[in-house]
Amino acid sequence: MRLDGLDPAAIERAAAAIAAGELVAFATETVYGLGARADRDDAVAKIFALKGRPSGHPLIVHVADRAGVERFAAPVTPVAQRLIDAFWPGPLTVIVARRPGVADAAAAGLATIGLRCPAHPVAHALLAKAAEAGVAGIAAPSANRFGRVSPTTAAHVADELGAELLVLDGGAARIGIESAIVDCSGSRPALLRPGMLTRAQLEEAAGASLADPDEGSARAPGTLAAHYAPRAAVRVMSTEMLRAALQVLGAEPLSLAVYSRSIPSGVAPGVRHRRMPARAEQAAHELFSILRELDGEGVHLIWVEEPPPGPEWDGVRDRLGRAAAA
Ligand code: TXA
Ligand code: MG
Repeated sequence: MRLDGLDPAAIERAAAAIAAGELVAFATETVYGLGARADRDDAVAKIFALKGRPSGHPLIVHVADRAGVERFAAPVTPVAQRLIDAFWPGPLTVIVARRPGVADAAAAGLATIGLRCPAHPVAHALLAKAAEAGVAGIAAPSANRFGRVSPTTAAHVADELGAELLVLDGGAARIGIESAIVDCSGSRPALLRPGMLTRAQLEEAAGASLADPDEGSARAPGTLAAHYAPRAAVRVMSTEMLRAALQVLGAEPLSLAVYSRSIPSGVAPGVRHRRMPARAEQAAHELFSILRELDGEGVHLIWVEEPPPGPEWDGVRDRLGRAAAA
């Protein structure tokens, strides 16, 4: 059930549901989250059940402010603290050493925990109201079924998880792809998942270079090669390859869509076309929504022109690569 996230009565109702151990989906600036109180393993178990997420995949715990960190984490490293100071509230998750015995299910039993303080006013209002009721943090993965495209609107959440679920509507997610994740729990910080904050921005604030995720030890489903997938098969191609492929298409109707910056619509008969924006921010904002829309139109194949090489495209490139790997 959709609730207006700007309505204080709706926030109150959602916070009460969270406090009672129920699930609530809510808007954040990245994507919509599916939340449960992080301090109750029975509440968190409902998230895994509804998403179809395998246990053993840890969840991010959302906190209202920096003080929330202490409830879940052991004292954090200077690198983690600098990142928190620079980017919270905002689209950054830090993995830090977990305070023993808290949020076991949310952390999937790991010795570490992922923490994020979202900037969206609806997420913030929910976290603040829940904190008043004694809930220090809300565990929330993206509000989609496991492996599918993350939702960026309240309607997407209802499509994914059913209309009965409470959803705090905060409009279309401004950023549109998930937070950047920096693992600060090891000897050297690592960028586990790129987001819209660039590596350079993160490294500058951290005062350290960021390692790439250690292939062998990556446990994050967001770091699985195949993830964020629409039903249609996605192929990412260079501009030249895409041009050539479109030229050899026969006249028979194919349920094909093209998402491209440099190839105009109408290039081949019967092929659907969406124009990829020139700016990475805009492309990230609309990416998941477009994949969903094309699925809804019954497209079987989505040919995507590879994004430009700039670091501001890292997040979009990452999500497209994973969608294509599915
Ligand atoms: O933007 C976001 O981060 C959204 C919104 C709702 O905040 N959340 C999100 O959650 O994308 P989820 O569960 O879909 O992705 C979280 C990622 C997963 O890949 C998970 O494995 C990883 O974070 N993660 C969480 N805790 C971790 C930990 N302790 N160690 C390693 N990875 C962790
Ligand atoms: Mg997810």
